[in-house]
Amino acid sequence: MKKDTTTITDNNTGRQLELLLRRGTSGPAVVDIGHLYHELGYFTYDPGFTSTASCRSGITYIDGEQGILHYRGYPIEQLAEKSNFLEVTYLLLYGELPNPQQLDAFTATIRHHTMINKSLERFYDGFYHDAHPMAIMMGVVGSLSAFYHDSTDIRNPQHRELAAHRMIAKMPTIAAASYKHSIGESFVYPNNNLSYCGNFLNMMFSVPSEPYIIDPVAEKAMDVLFILHADHEQNASTSTVRLAGSSGANPFACIASGIAALWGPAHGGANEAVLHMLEEIGKVDNIPAFLARAKDKKDPFRLMGFGHRVYKNYDPRAQIVRRMCHEVLDSREQHKDPLFELAVRLEEIALSDDYFIEHKLYPNVDFYSGIIYKALGIPTQMFTVMFAIARTVGWVAQWMEMIAEPQQRIGRPRQLYDGPGRRDYREMNDREQA
Ligand code: SDX
Repeated sequence: MKKDTTTITDNNTGRQLELLLRRGTSGPAVVDIGHLYHELGYFTYDPGFTSTASCRSGITYIDGEQGILHYRGYPIEQLAEKSNFLEVTYLLLYGELPNPQQLDAFTATIRHHTMINKSLERFYDGFYHDAHPMAIMMGVVGSLSAFYHDSTDIRNPQHRELAAHRMIAKMPTIAAASYKHSIGESFVYPNNNLSYCGNFLNMMFSVPSEPYIIDPVAEKAMDVLFILHADHEQNASTSTVRLAGSSGANPFACIASGIAALWGPAHGGANEAVLHMLEEIGKVDNIPAFLARAKDKKDPFRLMGFGHRVYKNYDPRAQIVRRMCHEVLDSREQHKDPLFELAVRLEEIALSDDYFIEHKLYPNVDFYSGIIYKALGIPTQMFTVMFAIARTVGWVAQWMEMIAEPQQRIGRPRQLYDGPGRRDYREMNDREQA
């Protein structure tokens, strides 16, 4: 029977090496190069991991050419239309859609962990009022391990599950508190009679002095946005969480590392950057000049919210978010949000431009999400925090999957060294003078 392998030949030595091909349920097979260095003395070289699978996973599948995204096999379009965020959270964590009893029990568990330790509130006082909320999130989430010693033994499945539930439950509370801190208002405690998103809106926008009515359109829009942002295979922040977790670091520290990686404008920070870009463009007449800058290799400017390492087709999430923009804006009598109009025109013009067509640059999930967040009253600096709340589910699910791997080992990439060769120490008087 033909072996499922591929063979490489080292033309320097004539040596051949047969490498095993591993195949999943969908997507490209992988070449197992685990013995390459031992057999041929070479490392592989793939900065940015454009052709590298870092792990096996059964959680999320993406087909970048077709613009396909599945969570545990379910198409994102169906989950966005029919499911809700806590049900999708259960699906990502446990692999199956919950039955009514499982969903009720899971919802009750998450609600049980929504509060944060009273001492944590003093932590916020250490931040200046204008601290970026992502900086606060990194600090506060990283400090959770100082409070929860009873769920940091990562080899204990019960500890892992308890830490997972705590992080998913507390992220909205920590996020809303970072917003309240920035506007000098008192923190609002979680209200466990509310939905996950209703509770977050209440903690963000209610004040003790008057009743706060949760807008069902806002609650639903946020729930769908959280579903869309929940997981996305081995993106930069998820890979960061996996690498941090591979050393045995506690789960709270791993999630804090994911928040740090997500913050970058090339990743989750793009949703905030898109709003600043649209405000800078200002009007449709200025679009050609900004597109010219985006195409100019000498100009570091990039069209934020466009392009993707994997999607070389329209990001399926962006299509859903764009449709939602109409619904949310119409519900708030903001039919004419000039920034949304500008974003739609920018997309039209960019997608008809040869450069964007040739480079297969389409809007990604971050291009329109800020339009909705803005319409819901979320301040721009909180946009990436919203992404982090949702992505905590994916980070936790991927971390749990990795830790449970029987062959789990510390991740330790190698390098191509091109620095100085061996040389002897030079005394001070033997060195070139400035
Ligand atoms: C997210 O990985 C994930 O799954 C991420 C994410 C998730 O859910 O976790 O989907 C969330 O991070 C979405 C991406 C958000 N970032 C942005 O919108 C920032 C703007 N986009 C780019 O910076 C860029 O497209 C990246 C970072 C998203 C992807 O970068 P790649 O894959 O490394 O692509 P590249 O930089 O090698 O670009 C390939 C070519 C280059 O031109 P050439 O040198 O080949 O001629 O495309 C050009 C780039 O200059 N290009 C752009 C561009 N994106 C790529 N040119 C102008 N504007 C852009 N936005």
